[in-house]
Amino acid sequence: MSQRNLEPLDVGAIREEFPVLQREFDGQQVVYLDNAATTQTPDAVVDAMSDYYRESNANIHRGIHHLSQEASIAYEEAHDRVAEFIGADGREEIVFTKNTTESENLVAYAWGLNELDPGEKIVLTEMEHHASLVTWQQIGERTGADVEYVRVDDDGRLDLDHARELIDDDAAIVSAVHVSNTLGTVNPVAELAELAHEHDALAFVDGAQAVPNRPVDVAEIDADFYAFSGHKMAGPTGIGVLYGKRELLEEMEPFLYGGGMIRKVTFEESTWGDLPWKFEPGTPPIAEAVGLHAAVDWLEEIGMERIQAHEEEIARYAYERLEAEEDVEIYGPEPGPDRGGLVSFNLEGVHAHDLTSIMNDHTIAVRAGDHCTQPLHDRLGVPASTRASFYVYNTREEVDKLVDALEDARQLFA
Ligand SMILES: Cc1ncc(COP(=O)(O)O)c(C=O)c1O
Repeated sequence: MSQRNLEPLDVGAIREEFPVLQREFDGQQVVYLDNAATTQTPDAVVDAMSDYYRESNANIHRGIHHLSQEASIAYEEAHDRVAEFIGADGREEIVFTKNTTESENLVAYAWGLNELDPGEKIVLTEMEHHASLVTWQQIGERTGADVEYVRVDDDGRLDLDHARELIDDDAAIVSAVHVSNTLGTVNPVAELAELAHEHDALAFVDGAQAVPNRPVDVAEIDADFYAFSGHKMAGPTGIGVLYGKRELLEEMEPFLYGGGMIRKVTFEESTWGDLPWKFEPGTPPIAEAVGLHAAVDWLEEIGMERIQAHEEEIARYAYERLEAEEDVEIYGPEPGPDRGGLVSFNLEGVHAHDLTSIMNDHTIAVRAGDHCTQPLHDRLGVPASTRASFYVYNTREEVDKLVDALEDARQLFA
């Protein structure tokens, strides 16, 4: 891993690599604070994908012609690059999916449906995204396994005593979000994985909000599975990643069947190809893999530690400015090492959707709703919240614009 470098980013120069950030609506420049939903894409990624289409486009693993060979190598190398980026032990442990949601479903179907028995436990947390929560609920219903939730305390942190209670010898899998997309909480996922392993349970980590903005090493966490999406880390939509320990992936049945994932097929039966191709049937997202490779290069060139430091600094500033407003309620822990780069909040007397619409009048893009964490919002006692989420190109001035726009909402609604 590169030397720890916390030099401030040249945000002005970085912003120039994102033409979309220069866009104006009604004469006002876009303030893009919806990065937890999707980050913007730098020129380097767009160029890598358009170069691929212009110069190397072909299907992979099926042709011996030059273009197919080039495309196959590019696709395979993208696996190698992602493996290196997250500390996996080679391309065999990196499965390309459509997104985090599909990565969750892959494990739920290919492992959960086959392995879970009635009375066993699927342990989640109250702050899981629906991608994990709904998926495991379904697997629980179909297998008779019980789904239990580690409580979130009033500060927005996991109650680890409760986790120790729930994770016992009946637990078969523990699935936890690494960074909460609503509370911003950074969970102690290595500790949860250790707890799971003490009871012979597997550990799944949803890293959709972690990989984009902090160094992640799956071996250090000792996760059995780790999932994330390209479109939240300066990469393209249409590609996600499932990391899985090689021996587990080898034992697992495929999730989807078809061409490209087989070794031998007869009219009677079929056998499966090598990892990771066994889990990647059909024509995969080839250009997207090229884009994801470019995104990883781009992020690492800046440095993940610096990205994390920048994002935390902007989020802390946003937290402090919002906290100073008496009619604003913020959710999640105070700024510190266990809080990531987003802030969800409500303005007293104003529904989150109305607030977001006022923000849009100022060309400020934030997200309103439950952020795919409905049960967590029930737990917080609010139907919805407004979320501002930051990335490598955001500035304090943009946070100021967000806070200034609250005054309009007060005038109109409160
Ligand atoms: C924590 C978390 N998990 C999972 C997802 C689902 O990601 P995707 O929509 O890319 O499948 C998201 C997206 O918002 C997320 O924030």
